[in-house]
Amino acid sequence: MFNLLKLKKKLNRFKRFLWSFDEIILALEWKIVGKYNFKRSKSDWQRLPFDNVGYISPELILGMDKSNIQNFIKEFEDTRYSLDGWRNYKNLWRSKLGLDNTKGKVIFDFGCGFGIESLQFLYNGNEVILGDINEENLNAAEYIINCAGYKVKEKVLLNSENPYFSVSNKFDIFYSNGVLHHTPNISDILEFAIDSFNNYENIEYRLMLYSDKAWELETGRKTDRDLPIEKQKGFFKYVRRMDKVGKYADWFDEKKLSSIIPNKLVLKNYDYIGQRGRFSASILKLREF
Ligand SMILES: C[S@@+](CC[C@H](N)C(=O)[O-])C[C@H]1O[C@@H](n2cnc3c(N)ncnc32)[C@H](O)[C@@H]1O
Repeated sequence: MFNLLKLKKKLNRFKRFLWSFDEIILALEWKIVGKYNFKRSKSDWQRLPFDNVGYISPELILGMDKSNIQNFIKEFEDTRYSLDGWRNYKNLWRSKLGLDNTKGKVIFDFGCGFGIESLQFLYNGNEVILGDINEENLNAAEYIINCAGYKVKEKVLLNSENPYFSVSNKFDIFYSNGVLHHTPNISDILEFAIDSFNNYENIEYRLMLYSDKAWELETGRKTDRDLPIEKQKGFFKYVRRMDKVGKYADWFDEKKLSSIIPNKLVLKNYDYIGQRGRFSASILKLREF
């Protein structure tokens, strides 16, 4: 028993060492490049998160047969949405993002990753447009969705700057889960999307973003709304603790999000989700003048 405890302590120390090593590499990369870079992001996000398992490549997915993909979906969904897990704590993830009560809508899944969120909407009679910065990610998400017995309406490769995307179909809901905190262009992207909604009066954005609590929990530091995130002490630690890939991550509380959304929009709901409120679910609508 005593030896086991000693071993656990050693393993934890080793894990902490690997973490700080990752942080040092990230800090060096920022020193060299100096700012957010979309090209680097594209290459970083050639591996995508499979919750609790790790980061895997879309090529691996594309090489799997249908029954393995179906097992992959089940495992992914069990992990992300389990009521015993920390993400869908008290079912807040599913309920606040409307995964179960959205029907008959066209959803634009911006930064779709493996398309697991899109799939939840497809189960309930919605249609989905997939958007991502890598073609291979889009292909893997489409393959996963096809193996589950559904089709995608459209696939869209996202750009680094305005015009951020070009869709052939208009949509009812702009959905983005775990994406827009990874780019400093969040305001511009939200603004750009306004013209692609089916019905201007009823535009709706649903965003899952890292929250201020994530920053505080991961860095042990107070939040600062004024200093650019990449200039703050704790930035490298935060980025690496929140994701094993990607070189940029921000956080948003109600006040900060309200201050960066386009003036035409209003933040209707902001809720903490996840066991310790690391994440947030926000609903944005058209401001009524
Ligand atoms: C953490 S994953 C989330 C994937 C998916 N939405 C989910 O819930 O599993 C982040 C996704 O955002 C995409 N991404 C990263 N930077 C982006 C950017 N600047 N613009 C749009 N998408 C981006 C990545 O390719 C990746 O698919």
